[in-house]
Amino acid sequence: MSWFSPKSKPSASCDAPASGDAIVVDHITKKYGDFTAVDDVSFNVHQGEIFGLLGPNGAGKSTLIRMMTTLLPATSGRAVINGFDVAKEPDSARHCMGVIPQALTSDIDLTVEENLSIYAKLYGVPAADRKRNIDELLKTVDLLKWRHAQTKTLSGGMRRRLEIARGLVHSPKIFFLDEPTTGLDPVSRVAVWEMLTEIKNRRALTILITTHYMDEADRLCDRVAIVDHGKLVALDSPMALKASVPGTNVIEAQFLNAPAVWHEELGKLEDVTSVQPVGADMYRILSSNGTKTTTELVELAVRSNVQIKSLSVQNTTLDDVFVHYTGRQLRDEQVKAYNFVMPDRPGMRP
Ligand SMILES: Nc1ncnc2c1ncn2[C@@H]1O[C@H](COP(=O)(O)OP(=O)(O)O)[C@@H](O)[C@H]1O
Ligand SMILES: [Mg+2]
Repeated sequence: MSWFSPKSKPSASCDAPASGDAIVVDHITKKYGDFTAVDDVSFNVHQGEIFGLLGPNGAGKSTLIRMMTTLLPATSGRAVINGFDVAKEPDSARHCMGVIPQALTSDIDLTVEENLSIYAKLYGVPAADRKRNIDELLKTVDLLKWRHAQTKTLSGGMRRRLEIARGLVHSPKIFFLDEPTTGLDPVSRVAVWEMLTEIKNRRALTILITTHYMDEADRLCDRVAIVDHGKLVALDSPMALKASVPGTNVIEAQFLNAPAVWHEELGKLEDVTSVQPVGADMYRILSSNGTKTTTELVELAVRSNVQIKSLSVQNTTLDDVFVHYTGRQLRDEQVKAYNFVMPDRPGMRP
């Protein structure tokens, strides 16, 4: 499928209705024969937000993005991008969007700058703006020094950054990124997050990103839609999603010189739902408000002249949210405990 129809006049600008939501997805469904890959999904993305589609492999994230970006027709329902129905006005919709597909698609035999300038020309960015845009984007994605390097010489993270710059050469209003950090090392992943946040703030951009990384969705996104088996199972801010999961905070604490009634004292703390002894002076405390209980526990220990030897707090994560709404793990348990280990020295206080 060609990106622009022959009749369309490429132009860099997105002549779009400015009001309303950036993306409207309205009861959209995609079937492959008898198999339903996306099942009656609806959501709106507000202008200027970073919106995450979070779900395991095969959940339907790429299918959703492909329908929103005109690459795949929906079986039923519709998607509206910046006011343009993608089925009725695909060219207008395309001028408003930048798209980074899941697979790396930059041309490895071209230089970094050539990859950008070809896209800028394809989108009809006027020659006078092209160089300025490309310079600014190369600076933003930290590839200025590499502008004349062949793309095949870049690392995976650098190539991803080049593709992010390429998706923005025509100054789109809405930026779609399909798993932009999959396969990157942790440092490159964080670099991509920081770049996206900075770009969004500077360019008044709306971003829709898919990911199967819980920490990424949590840190980056204003709102997150959890998709599983083609269905939207939950949608809210990461904080509200986590707050919607009842009583899952676990605090493990070990004490020195605790009195005999310590078990009961811990049980009296507000929001604590259970206290289980799990070893010598060690307790596993369940709370519906981990942060508050931790503070109160430390205050109680100080007041009672009891030393805390170790303290670990497991806050609710989006993993817990996923389990709550789908009944299963998204992937292997991540390390999610914050550990504070106090040196075992006389007179040491928390
Ligand atoms: N062209 C296709 N024909 C048949 N099934 C497909 C096709 N494309 C995707 N699927 C299936 O649709 C489901 C959703 O796929 P996809 O949108 O790629 O998921 P995700 O991006 O969340 O990993 C998967 O089960 C996948 O196998
Ligand atoms: Mg995918």
